[in-house]
Amino acid sequence: MTMAGSACGKVILVGEHAVVYGVPAIVVGIDHGATARAVRLPGTRGDSELAVRVEGLSAASIAVRPADATDLGAAFSALLEACGVTGAVRVEAIADLPAGAGLGCSAALGVAITRALLALEPGPSASPDDVAHRATAWERVFHGNPSGIDAAAAARGGCMLYRRAQGAVAIEPITAARALVLAIGSTGIAQSTRTMVEHVATLRVREPERVASAFDAIATLTGVARRAIESGDLVLLGRAMDDNQRLLATLGLSVPETDALCLAARQEGALGAKMTGSGGGGCVVALCPAGAEGVVSRWQRDGFSGFSTVVGANEAR
Ligand code: PMV
Repeated sequence: MTMAGSACGKVILVGEHAVVYGVPAIVVGIDHGATARAVRLPGTRGDSELAVRVEGLSAASIAVRPADATDLGAAFSALLEACGVTGAVRVEAIADLPAGAGLGCSAALGVAITRALLALEPGPSASPDDVAHRATAWERVFHGNPSGIDAAAAARGGCMLYRRAQGAVAIEPITAARALVLAIGSTGIAQSTRTMVEHVATLRVREPERVASAFDAIATLTGVARRAIESGDLVLLGRAMDDNQRLLATLGLSVPETDALCLAARQEGALGAKMTGSGGGGCVVALCPAGAEGVVSRWQRDGFSGFSTVVGANEAR
């Protein structure tokens, strides 16, 4: 029997990078994500096959086996292990998110595949946190030191405060008083999360006080943003996003295309705009309570691509 799993992508409203070092961040699941289907094959785990297609990246699927000496092969192997798969399986997965864009594409794939694999086993379905925990084995191959925020958002959806502290994870669902209308724009530059996380780690060694003070300021902004979301004060939330963008730029994470997208969004009425995810390219997220169409059209006129999404009142699972 073929079993299916799905997961959402994400945008981080406040706190990326700082979250790797224990600062709380706010993340929302979006309605673009990944789906996966798994079926048993004759043979043992090593005979398993994975075919992945990322829309916009390649027309054909990329096929791997767990023993392949590629990141995808290693991630598949790690996930089979984390899901306790012993026999052979064939998995097909599709993401409708750009890869390397800060929208949690790899986590969405990891979570969707985890769900499809776990569904092959009899018994009750796994909790979102269990799924996210297993999918982190996949994420670790691509990201080195993932905070786990992408996998948590992919597995739960909705809006949440995420914090990693001393090896444990704390997640608090946030109930939005007003729906968050977001425009998401792409710089068109794919970037490696691992590279950007390593950039911050190097900066932290070289200039510990500067990075610590930026992270302290980001922690304050996370608190402000949480209260703003809960009270429906979107002007305050937009300001926190803008302030977060300025801090990320001081850490060398923004590129001119990011700045151009953020500026255009604000000129078209967005209340705040910032990069989302690891930066160095990737995407920006803009808060557009009056509607995201004007911002997305402006980006398109400026030669960028974008789409809109709405995060409603608390949808976290
Ligand atoms: O994978 P990305 O580009 O969406 O970035 C995830 C957020 C980071 O804080 C940069 C890394 C992490 O693991 O938290």
